Amino acid sequence: MSSAVPTDRTVLVTGATSGIGWETARLLSEQGCTVVLHAPDAASGGAAVERLVAAGADPKRLDLAVADFSRLAEVRAMAAAVAAAHPVLDVLVNNAAVAAPERHTITEDGVELSLQVNFLAAYVLTRGLTGPLTARPGSRVVNVSSSMHRTASIAWSDPNRSRRYSRLAAYAQSQLALTVFARAALPADSGGTAVSVHPGVCDTALLSLYGHEGDSAAEGAARVARLCDPATELEPGAYYDRTALSPAAPVAGEPRTVRRLVKLAEELAGQAA
Ligand SMILES: NC(=O)c1ccc[n+]([C@@H]2O[C@H](COP(=O)([O-])OP(=O)(O)OC[C@H]3O[C@@H](n4cnc5c(N)ncnc54)[C@H](OP(=O)(O)O)[C@@H]3O)[C@@H](O)[C@H]2O)c1
Repeated sequence: MSSAVPTDRTVLVTGATSGIGWETARLLSEQGCTVVLHAPDAASGGAAVERLVAAGADPKRLDLAVADFSRLAEVRAMAAAVAAAHPVLDVLVNNAAVAAPERHTITEDGVELSLQVNFLAAYVLTRGLTGPLTARPGSRVVNVSSSMHRTASIAWSDPNRSRRYSRLAAYAQSQLALTVFARAALPADSGGTAVSVHPGVCDTALLSLYGHEGDSAAEGAARVARLCDPATELEPGAYYDRTALSPAAPVAGEPRTVRRLVKLAEELAGQAA
């Protein structure tokens, strides 16, 4: 294995049908990467690929991976399919997310919807791709989380928030979990690095969670793509606020929290196996 920067980088971007994810796929494709776009269904994925090709992407360097993250069986099947097709994966961008609905919603896997789509699916996917992500040194996992993680706590005894549900608290909890997961996304001795990033408040389908106006999705994507670039030095497990290294919520750095989160994720994923 060589530690030189590979020229044939392969990246997987989840939630690449719209917003920051699609723009990230576009930027990485422009840089010559082979881009695996993830979509929740074949139709939206096909449309996203078509738009990328229309924007100048080389169709031979695009692949599509489909999984509805509210169904963990689909996430596991997608991880297996991606691992078979791409035994070396240089970057995984965990970007897919949904706003927690007004009404408390539990998936068929028994998990609160935003916790599952925004965190648990990323956890299961990342674990399922450990092989390709450790096939050569220097791989990266970039968790697209949010500054809103600072307002959150993880309800350890009721992570589904069945007793007291608020959509913003559920979404924020999912973002905190994803931020913490950056500290445990790759094996310590893998030679890879995982980080999380707040892409900035951006004018996408999720804008209403944050405010009324924001940067363009392309501006947010540039902040994500910067962290995917081998030329950008990363601090393992760190949190970036747009382009600045920034302290995450103090709880996110506690080793005990990291261990508890991994245990919780294993339990939630295991109950759904
Ligand atoms: N926009 C902001 O101001 C802001 C601020 C901070 C952090 N973020 C983070 O940025 C990331 C990207 O969000 P965005 O703003 O670009 O919003 P977006 O345009 O709504 O993108 C979300 C992506 O996730 C996909 N997705 C939603 N539900 C899914 C499911 N059940 N299974 C699989 N994929 C699913 C969406 O697919 P479909 O659209 O095809 O359903 C879409 O591709 C998110 O992680 C978000 O938390 C955004």
